[in-house]
Amino acid sequence: MSKTIIITGASKGIGRSAAEVLLKAGYRCALAARRTDSLRELADQYPDQTLLQPADVSRLEEVKRLVEATVKRFGGVGVLVNNAGLGTFDPIQDGKPDEWDRMIDVNIKGVLYAIHAVLPHMLQQQDGHIINLASVAGHHVYPNGAVYAATKHAFSSRLGGIRQDLRGKVRVTPISPGAVNTPFPENISNPELRAHFRENLGNGLDPAVVAQAIHQAIAYPDKVMMSEIILRPFHRQ
Ligand SMILES: NC(=O)c1ccc[n+]([C@@H]2O[C@H](COP(=O)([O-])OP(=O)(O)OC[C@H]3O[C@@H](n4cnc5c(N)ncnc54)[C@H](OP(=O)(O)O)[C@@H]3O)[C@@H](O)[C@H]2O)c1
Repeated sequence: MSKTIIITGASKGIGRSAAEVLLKAGYRCALAARRTDSLRELADQYPDQTLLQPADVSRLEEVKRLVEATVKRFGGVGVLVNNAGLGTFDPIQDGKPDEWDRMIDVNIKGVLYAIHAVLPHMLQQQDGHIINLASVAGHHVYPNGAVYAATKHAFSSRLGGIRQDLRGKVRVTPISPGAVNTPFPENISNPELRAHFRENLGNGLDPAVVAQAIHQAIAYPDKVMMSEIILRPFHRQ
């Protein structure tokens, strides 16, 4: 029987690409985002493999409902792809506390809530895999991104204690892409930085490439754990 995979932030960008790749590969997928209407057509293509569940990852009750609905529909949960996330950028002296709150709520608390909700099932099954969409910003800090980088450092491989606690029980794979061409810049309220990120990400990786890495990490035999994936655009000069 194929694995069941929960993908948060599946409505666009990397999460959407991961959904397409994993459904095509035959996995059963619970696809979550605050709005799931953009996923309807994809779900209709794979009706037996797909669950659409609106969920805001910053609300623990909604995340618990997502996991319960997944277990009810598919009988368990094998993989959690913690992908939902956002970035806003400003010099720290111009920072906007409400935007910091959103990043912390989604990028840190949302990831923890989802882990909290799936772990009882994974531990009971004695099998599970947690994939966290970290970032190159979780390895190297750049100007204007202090708070985003802090949220991404929370789950970068070296600083996360999660893998140590789950050693021998649940596989944990952080995936850290550099620039990826997605609607990610649309959350940036600073117009100059939004334009800068649009241009930079426009030259970035295709989200399908990140989806491929997610697929690969899942597809390795259960006795293998990809413990670190860093993907960067490569421009031949
Ligand atoms: N793009 C890049 O260059 C890049 C590089 C490194 C890492 N990353 C990371 O990769 C992940 C995906 O980014 P992306 O580029 O694909 O961004 P994106 O295109 O903006 O997509 C973000 C996804 O997250 C969902 N989301 C946002 N807030 C949410 C919430 N509170 N609850 C549930 N879902 C929520 C969005 O759906 P709704 O709005 O419908 O909820 C959307 O599906 C993020 O964690 C990001 O930090 C991105």
